[in-house]
Amino acid sequence: MTATRLVPSPVNTVTRFRDDVLSGLSRKQKWLPAKYFYDPLGSSLFDRITELDEYYPTRTELAIMQAHVSAMATRCGKNCLLVELGAGSLLKVRLLLDQLDRPAGFVPVDVSGEHLRASAKELTADYPDIPVYPVVADFCRSFEIPSIDADRRVVYFPGSTIGNFDPPDAARLMRSVARMVGPGGGLLLGVDLRKDPAVLERAYNDAEGVTACFNLNLLTRINRELGADFDPASFRHRAFYNRDLYRIEMHLVSSVDQSVNLSGRTFHFRADESIHTENSYKHDTGELTHRAEDWGFRVDQTWTDKAGYFAVIYLTAPDK
Ligand code: AVJ
Repeated sequence: MTATRLVPSPVNTVTRFRDDVLSGLSRKQKWLPAKYFYDPLGSSLFDRITELDEYYPTRTELAIMQAHVSAMATRCGKNCLLVELGAGSLLKVRLLLDQLDRPAGFVPVDVSGEHLRASAKELTADYPDIPVYPVVADFCRSFEIPSIDADRRVVYFPGSTIGNFDPPDAARLMRSVARMVGPGGGLLLGVDLRKDPAVLERAYNDAEGVTACFNLNLLTRINRELGADFDPASFRHRAFYNRDLYRIEMHLVSSVDQSVNLSGRTFHFRADESIHTENSYKHDTGELTHRAEDWGFRVDQTWTDKAGYFAVIYLTAPDK
């Protein structure tokens, strides 16, 4: 396996995590970035979320992929270099790899080197003819993909991960993707759609409390990796649909008046004060068509399920 790696040093990774937590907790509305949910326990809790009855996005997106993957592969064309942002579960990308016409290679990009290595190994075993070039990087920051000869570069960004980004941050990321794939390049994007708020709120407040564990695990992770003294039992999970901003918000709400120590600093929480831990934006296909232009893309084709819960969209970066 050929491997081009941009490996962030662990020191920087911890330092960044600490800086992000310290600055987030210093804001008036306390804030922690959702990307830190995914330590090993958080990732396995997320896997459990994707199997919950209430959590429709993953199975809906998978069904859309299964129904339309050959049309998606046709859009990608022959000899494309497929780049996946956030090497999540290999299930969805395998559907694509099965259908692509002699792809030039597959580039999974993920912060977790361990997760990447495991995924790359599995894929190489099953697709010996497709070269895999893993890139260890936080795709929210700048990163480079190896310069492999290909007819076209296509970025695959599934799972509605784009929903975690505020519109300006999403635009910044998508503009960098447009630059990366170049004129004629593609973007296959999975987005969660607006729907009955009751359906949305159920998906983030499951009966078993898996989402609550997933949310609270962030505090446990901060304690373990940064030496903070959060008492996770004194915080509770809260998720609701913000109808004005079209997003699910997740918060951790302090049940009591308390202080938390981290890196020689003390953060005070009033009873009922929250830490905002995630936004999950819900999209509208018409509006996305306009936003795509601002990102440097044009919508070519949109696939959706019967209920219109989720969409997979193929976008092209137009020739200049
Ligand atoms: C992985 C960002 C798509 O927003 O639905 C699931 C994460 N948070 N339950 C989402 C998540 C709570 C998920 N994404």
